[in-house]
Amino acid sequence: MASDRSNVSSNSSIQFHNTAGKHSIFEDEIRKLPIPVCSVFIGGDGSIMPATFKETDMIFQCEDHGRTSKEFTRSIEKSRDIVLQATPTDSSQRVNGKRVAVLFSGGPAAGGHNVLAGLMAVLGSGNTLLGIKKGPKGLIKGDLFEISNEQIGEIINTGGFDFLGTDRTKVKTSEQFAKVKETALQNKLDGLIIVGGDDSNTNAAYIAEYFLREGVNCSVVGIPKTIDGDMAVGKYLPISFGFDTATKVYSELAGNLTQDAASAVKYYHFVKLMGRTASKITLEVALQTKPAVTLISEEMAEKNMSLEDVVEYVSDIIAKRRIRGINHGVVLVPEGLIEFIPEMRTLIHELNFVLAEYERDIRDLPTLKNKQEYIYPLLTPQSAQLMASLPDEIEEMLILDRDDHGNVKVSQIETEKLLIEKIRYRMSQLKRHTDRFFGEGEGKIDATTAQLGKFKAASFATQSHFFGYEGRSAKPTAFDAAFTFNLGLAAGSLVLAEKTGYMASVTDFDKGGRVLALPISGLIACETRKGKEELVIAKDLVDTSSPAFKVFAQNREEWANADLFSSPGPIQHWGPTSKQMPVSVALNQGYGDYRTFNFGEEKHIELK
Ligand code: FBP
Repeated sequence: MASDRSNVSSNSSIQFHNTAGKHSIFEDEIRKLPIPVCSVFIGGDGSIMPATFKETDMIFQCEDHGRTSKEFTRSIEKSRDIVLQATPTDSSQRVNGKRVAVLFSGGPAAGGHNVLAGLMAVLGSGNTLLGIKKGPKGLIKGDLFEISNEQIGEIINTGGFDFLGTDRTKVKTSEQFAKVKETALQNKLDGLIIVGGDDSNTNAAYIAEYFLREGVNCSVVGIPKTIDGDMAVGKYLPISFGFDTATKVYSELAGNLTQDAASAVKYYHFVKLMGRTASKITLEVALQTKPAVTLISEEMAEKNMSLEDVVEYVSDIIAKRRIRGINHGVVLVPEGLIEFIPEMRTLIHELNFVLAEYERDIRDLPTLKNKQEYIYPLLTPQSAQLMASLPDEIEEMLILDRDDHGNVKVSQIETEKLLIEKIRYRMSQLKRHTDRFFGEGEGKIDATTAQLGKFKAASFATQSHFFGYEGRSAKPTAFDAAFTFNLGLAAGSLVLAEKTGYMASVTDFDKGGRVLALPISGLIACETRKGKEELVIAKDLVDTSSPAFKVFAQNREEWANADLFSSPGPIQHWGPTSKQMPVSVALNQGYGDYRTFNFGEEKHIELK
């Protein structure tokens, strides 16, 4: 017996040989996949070349132009807020000897490592790529190292931000700006590339302006990253990278839950989906999976729906399904819903002002009760009452946890559980007062006596889920792998062309990719953060008049009524759905088909 056991263990160790780190059997294969490259980056000899940029007739100017032009005087003087478009470069014009540093900022998003691969490929052996460790914090500290071709070979087409690390530090004080300058000068940087979302690209715009003012000869270029999808600019930037991968992971999981709901026929699965303020992820997952109920925060806000209205809306669908004999399903809840409910929005707004004034005092109070006693009298009676009605954990999150940019940490707020609690109560009311809610008449649900009997006998069994972190560090889809590689090529080209204060973009996903540079200062608007007005890139939220929302709105009733659902399955890197792009993006861009993206000719990437 003893010798049998030892055989088992030595066999297992053979199976796990060489699958650690970025060396799973899958990762070793995925590294070899070719990547499509936009034609502007292909030189006459077929090799990758930096592109040059020419001005277009498109000018970006935000609504508050007066204010931004004061903050970004030099950047605007240089760019005149004009969008640039890439064109191929003549190979005799290769630039050499430049030192370019890159950092990741904010939450991870799939494809970050391919940005580095794109940068390395476009800089070529004549220039140096430096990695900045741990995001903006590393930039301030001067924590840089030279990236080698071998390291890129290890990480290409793999997920996560672990190679460089990331953080959410906002560069805001004059000491921090001075440190950034020191890092740029000490490392003789000609370029700084910031891979991030709206806040991080705003940081990029401020650093670009500061460098121009201080005479630091270093271009600053942003790259649009965030799974949330709210870093988008119409036809100029259809989506940020990471959105496609995250939504495909969540759609697979939500699809599995729709399948489970229909199989076990006993649960309502409430799924909170990451995405911060925007419901873009939720909309995309709904289009891919056709669940029973989907809440879109932007629509709820437009309809001025209170928390009670939202609860009634969902309960009504669940009740009608139960009358039809369906007592299961999936409910999608966007992470940021709570911020869009008018009374919650007012409460958060009031809290932001209170925190801006008394944050330190409140932080020092030892218990939640102490904090409540301090805060409640500073709020309007309605907000104080609402706050007191919320579960303690939600109150805690609303009181203190803001990130460095002043965002409420919605990922930590268990909105799905709050909804379940309230819907459960509403369902029990429906059971208890059937005459009030069922029968003939305005707003009543039509039901026979037999159906009502079954309705009363059924119970409301739920499961809650949060899909967030598992989607943002996944292996990039073929779409994100290609998109990010080309974004890296674009950002590297911009630095070599000495452009500063721009965000790299690739658009026309259906036609081989058009490469653009968007002046960041033109995207900036005024927002209230932590009770103070701040200039920050405007978030691109779900537009209820967009084609994607309309398709969803036209179909949702059928999905609710007939228990329709679809299970898109796992992300494919080979095979029929491997070239798929996000459905909502294809609809909004008017591409006609979402099944095949086209970023140009596929190339096996070999770095020398
Ligand atoms: P950014 O890409 O804007 O940094 O945010 C991505 C995100 O995943 C949000 O969807 C989510 O609300 C947040 O990060 C969670 O942040 P944290 O990593 O601090 O928990």
